[in-house]
Amino acid sequence: MQDVLMDRNDGVMTITLNRVDKKNSFTQAMYAACADALEQAQGDAAMRVVVFQGHATVFSAGNDIADFLNNPAPGLDAPVLRFLRALAAFPKPVVAAVCGPAVGIGTTLLFHCDLVYAGDNAAFAMPFVNLGLCPEAASSLLVPQMLGYHRAAEALLLGEPFMAEAALEVGLVNRIVPPTEANAVAQTQARKLAAKPMTSLVETKRLMKKGQQSQVLALIDEEAQIFGRMLGEPAAREAFGAFMEKRKPDFSGL
Ligand code: COA
Repeated sequence: MQDVLMDRNDGVMTITLNRVDKKNSFTQAMYAACADALEQAQGDAAMRVVVFQGHATVFSAGNDIADFLNNPAPGLDAPVLRFLRALAAFPKPVVAAVCGPAVGIGTTLLFHCDLVYAGDNAAFAMPFVNLGLCPEAASSLLVPQMLGYHRAAEALLLGEPFMAEAALEVGLVNRIVPPTEANAVAQTQARKLAAKPMTSLVETKRLMKKGQQSQVLALIDEEAQIFGRMLGEPAAREAFGAFMEKRKPDFSGL
């Protein structure tokens, strides 16, 4: 079974994260598959909208931590960056359905989606500091912008999770629905978008994003350089080791 499924129907390309036994954590191959899918959707006039979805029980547990351990110096051409840049610059509408845990990039990718529908079991977390890392995907800009600085500090400095209701309140999600309905709601909204005039959609999205588009893309690379350095440092090595050994990390002295 493939870890990322791609489906094309009625003008909608649906990308499904399908590694449920590992909580849809992203491997390098999965980032590459998602980047490829976005590039195909961008170049295919028949594809008017993209939907990102996971499973009713889990959206994504973020980057695969074993992958972090094995690839400590990803570089600016890494699949994750190809994916993030493609998503942040994607010209057509992107709709997401999010249920269960959405950790790390599972949350930060949502800041680049246009519409987000959440199951009432959705739990968002950006525990970068708890992993000895720093924000990615331009989240150091986009999270304070959407949540306000102090709530962003809870999410990014303390790494505290927040639930669907809080995400709705700050505007990260559009609507909360039963988890078993989230993917269907996203499809319905995507089809509504797909029926609209494409040029109007693309121009409207471009105009809404244009104020900070170049800043966002530059920040994705700047954060990635710091993140990449931190992956090899002792705090991150301790955090990843602790996760793999199913124990609490010990940051004393770090
Ligand atoms: N990388 C690699 N494997 C992961 C993973 C990740 N990010 N998240 C979960 N898994 C694996 C677990 O190791 C476990 O594998 P096993 O069955 O071989 O032991 C399996 O997925 C199930 O995970 P588990 O932790 O038992 O599920 P849970 O329902 O108790 O908790 C989460 C779900 C998402 C809350 C928890 O898995 C988690 O916190 N994951 C790490 C999140 C994270 O820090 N991501 C990095 C962000 S930058």
